[in-house]
Amino acid sequence: MATVTPAAPRLSIDGIRAEFPILKRRVHGQPIAYLDNGATAQKPTAVIEALDRYWTEHNANVHRGVHTLSEEATALYERARTTIARHLGVAPREVIFTRNVTGSLNLVARAWGRANVGPGDRIVLTEMEHHSNIVPWYLLAEEVGAELDWVPVDGDGRLELEALAAALERGPGLLAVTHVSNVLGTVNPIAEIVRMAHDAGAIVVVDGAQAAPKLELDLAELGADFYGFTGHKLYGPTGVGVLYGRRELLDAMGPYEGGGSMIRKVTKERITWASVPARFEAGTPPIGEAIGLAAAVEWLDAVGLEAAHAHEAEVGAYALEQLAEIPGLRLFGPPAGEDRVGIVSFALDGVHAHDVSEILDRHAVAVRAGHHCAQVLMSRLGVPATTRASLAIYNTREEIDRLVAALYDVRRVFELG
Ligand code: ALA
Repeated sequence: MATVTPAAPRLSIDGIRAEFPILKRRVHGQPIAYLDNGATAQKPTAVIEALDRYWTEHNANVHRGVHTLSEEATALYERARTTIARHLGVAPREVIFTRNVTGSLNLVARAWGRANVGPGDRIVLTEMEHHSNIVPWYLLAEEVGAELDWVPVDGDGRLELEALAAALERGPGLLAVTHVSNVLGTVNPIAEIVRMAHDAGAIVVVDGAQAAPKLELDLAELGADFYGFTGHKLYGPTGVGVLYGRRELLDAMGPYEGGGSMIRKVTKERITWASVPARFEAGTPPIGEAIGLAAAVEWLDAVGLEAAHAHEAEVGAYALEQLAEIPGLRLFGPPAGEDRVGIVSFALDGVHAHDVSEILDRHAVAVRAGHHCAQVLMSRLGVPATTRASLAIYNTREEIDRLVAALYDVRRVFELG
């Protein structure tokens, strides 16, 4: 995990915490230590108020009415697209609103994949993918008769780049890879991976679900062809995701879902498609949710991702250090450093991850337990499940101390000494 350099701006964590009303919640009589941000992050007042304002004052459908509310809703929705495009360093027409990252990745697999992947073609995936970046490719491969090729994860929880190079030599049309592992916290060198894939003539689809809330993204610089992420992990609402697609690719793609808004002309004989991005936003889109996501992006940009990342990395490094002291606890993922974020998975010998999590909850420490929708990775790690603490901007060393104390209680309950 990155250490805090003297140049990194410091955050007032007390001030940040005060902006998240839910952090005042008590669970089982104790203040909550919310360490399940990889699953979903909490929402600052700025987002809650933006949503409330939209539902209270502007709610209407977009791109349809000529009445005042509809025009206001349309302007806010399209402004949300522009805000997000600016945040990503891309053009607004390259930003498509989806329902979540799963929606974004399925869109690429269906709309790009069906037109460009055929029998015997290869699709390269990695062992650290979330199911949302495996299942759509598996379905496509089954449908068209393509083959999946897997890049292994090494003992430190990093991708084996030599194996990636070998897979790319086999001439795949597409590489699907996560930017940050939702289990290991590994930050993959996406710019380098994209260069390797492009040299081999493959396009690259990146799952940015865990990266977008944590890392400054300049998608033009990263060079990925498609990049998906979701709103609710980025301090925004559920029900909205984003797909960035390179303009030439989107323009050449046919639609994914059919319905209202995505057509130019419908006759009994023939249907023509709207231009991008409308072509990929069939039906009523997640209007309020997109506006709430834009508020989250503006809030995060105002806080500063560099400072947020430095803080999270520092608390994450502390977590790794403290957890390593607990007898019988096995940590997964790379050591603290530049290629590690504050996502910390572990297994406690002799105790199932669900039991660990349940006892932690008695201490008001919220974590996730299970396979984390990454069963290929679980099998690589040789465990059925892990317990995962995943950090956000508002987490503190004190919360890590509570996690550690609660884990000693788990050891006591299971009489591990
Ligand atoms: N994909 C989310 C996670 O890793 C739900 O927890």
